[in-house]
Amino acid sequence: MDLSRQSLTEAAAAFMVNRSKRYTGCRFGFRDMALSNLPKRIVAVASGKGGVGKSTVTVNLAVALAERGWSVGLLDADIYGPSMRTMLGVADSVTPDQRDGKYLLPITAHGVQAMSMGFLTNERTPSVWRGPMASGALMQMLEQTLWGDLDILLIDMPPGTGDIQLTLSQKTALTGAVIVTTPQDIALLDARKGIEMFAKVDVPVLGIIENMAVHVCAACGHSEHLFGEAGGQRLAEEYGVPVLASLPLSITMREYADGGKPLATSLPDSDEARRFFEASDRLAATITDADADADSASAPTITMSDD
Ligand SMILES: Nc1ncnc2c1ncn2[C@@H]1O[C@H](COP(=O)(O)OP(=O)(O)O)[C@@H](O)[C@H]1O
Ligand SMILES: [Mg+2]
Ligand SMILES: [Zn+2]
Repeated sequence: MDLSRQSLTEAAAAFMVNRSKRYTGCRFGFRDMALSNLPKRIVAVASGKGGVGKSTVTVNLAVALAERGWSVGLLDADIYGPSMRTMLGVADSVTPDQRDGKYLLPITAHGVQAMSMGFLTNERTPSVWRGPMASGALMQMLEQTLWGDLDILLIDMPPGTGDIQLTLSQKTALTGAVIVTTPQDIALLDARKGIEMFAKVDVPVLGIIENMAVHVCAACGHSEHLFGEAGGQRLAEEYGVPVLASLPLSITMREYADGGKPLATSLPDSDEARRFFEASDRLAATITDADADADSASAPTITMSDD
């Protein structure tokens, strides 16, 4: 049995179950941190339907923004199917440092500060423990991670529009949401549900990313719209929001995502990376506009130094 992983799982359980519990093995001195270390800009990336490439898109957007010089956080909110360890290429042996048994330090990879259930648990973590605690665990990961002084926090939302998604959207001051969909009718239907959920809690949709929009044949170069054509565009027009990117079905995207190598850093000159940079630039512009709108109402921000 892998003892280090086992004890990590126990540590994670203790962290989630009892937020005031102190770890005897804590390597850091006590520091009383206010829980108000959340960044001013928090953007949820959501899809409604699973498997449409939401995590792939989120990690690539995050890394593209970081490459542009933004300080970027990435919260993997998919408690049941976390993917950031794989997609950021974080080795199994790397786990978050703790402070005071209450706080976790994010893991930095490809210039992005990330936190994921996948950093805290493994396949052996009992699902009975995960299930009922999912939304509590998520809020704790959000609030008890010592995010540095971030320009933006991206949240890779779990699929669906259930309790977890609603709780997160209600309890967090979201700047907005990005919706990822394939052009397929069934995905669009779920994307619509997602948009309407955000509307209900007054979270603006900042844009739509259409994924797996077209397949370009490697042999002859002809293109096929496997999942239908321009579905994301129609959805965007329907709700009056921009399309931030339209991404092809791409073996490169799949291989690099599953291989822990985000394209913005690993293959920056590829067509796919270029699309992610375009999307992140558009997103950045939208968000900076939103800042200007909110400026008059903004409260002073508290920053923390990590000495
Ligand atoms: N445009 C694409 N072309 C090819 N494969 C893709 C593309 N987008 C995502 N994938 C692959 O599809 C699978 C599901 O993607 P993922 O990002 O995990 O979806 P979700 O987070 O929506 O469940 C992954 O293996 C990923 O590498
Ligand atoms: Mg995912
Ligand atoms: Zn062909």
